[in-house]
Order: sequence, then structure tokens, then C-alpha cells
Amino acid sequence: MKHLRLARLFLALCSISATAADETSIVLIDAPDRDFTTAHCAICHSLDYITMNAPVMDRARWRATVQKMIDRFGAPIEAKDVDRLVAYLSQHYVNRE
Ligand code: HEC
Repeated sequence: MKHLRLARLFLALCSISATAADETSIVLIDAPDRDFTTAHCAICHSLDYITMNAPVMDRARWRATVQKMIDRFGAPIEAKDVDRLVAYLSQHYVNRE
């Protein structure tokens, strides 16, 4: 009986870690600078911050957001890389209506 309970617990734990893995497996749209953007933006949080915010974003908002990541949260992004990141984000993750 005890073994059965342990087995259930084990299965429950497995499904929890599978869910967590799903969250981090978000992949950005395949285009030039995808890996560049992933490398800079997945350091602190999941990439779903990008996909979830896309409907309310435009180029100016992405610029402000990237700047905020640097100024407020200390993102290790060099000033010369901001344009490149904003270009990728505003090409693929904006409100198209
Ligand atoms: C140094 C850590 C760090 C890096 C690197 C970073 N972020 Fe963030 N980001 C944060 C934190 C902290 C928050 C605050 C919200 C939270 O976690 O609840 C956040 C929130 C966001 C949000 C949610 C909306 C908002 O304005 O709060 C978006 C969108 C976002 N980040 C996009 C990006 C993008 C795009 C990049 C790459 C250019 C990036 N982040 C890199 C730390 C970081």
C-alpha cells in the first residue's frame, strides 16, 4: 500500500516538472537575430513575456521595454545592441490590427 502511494507521488512530481519544462521551451519566431534576442532576453524570465505582450506592442513600446530592462533591471545589454533587439521584436511581435 505504501509503495502505491509513493508511486503516485512520483508520478505527480513528474507531471509538475513536465509542466515547468513546457514553459521554458517557448521558441521565438525563426528569423535573423532570433538567437541573438533569445540570448539577451531569456536570462531573467521566460520568453513568453515577449509573446504575451505582442498584442499591445509597437516599435516605440519595444524600445521603451528594452530600455526598461536595462535601466531598471540591469539587463546586460550593450547600447549598440538595443537597435538590433528592437528591430527583431518590432518586426515579429507587434499588434497587427
Ligand atoms: C536582468 C534581467 C532581465 C533581462 C535580461 C530582461 N528582462 Fe524583461 N523583465 C525583467 C523583470 C525583473 C521584469 C519584471 C516583471 C516580473 O518579472 O514580474 C521583466 C518584465 C518584462 C516584460 C513584461 C512587461 C513589463 O514591461 O514589465 C517584458 C515584455 C519583458 N520583460 C521583455 C524583455 C525583453 C524583450 C528582453 C530582452 C531585450 C528582456 N525582457 C530582458 C528582467 C529582465
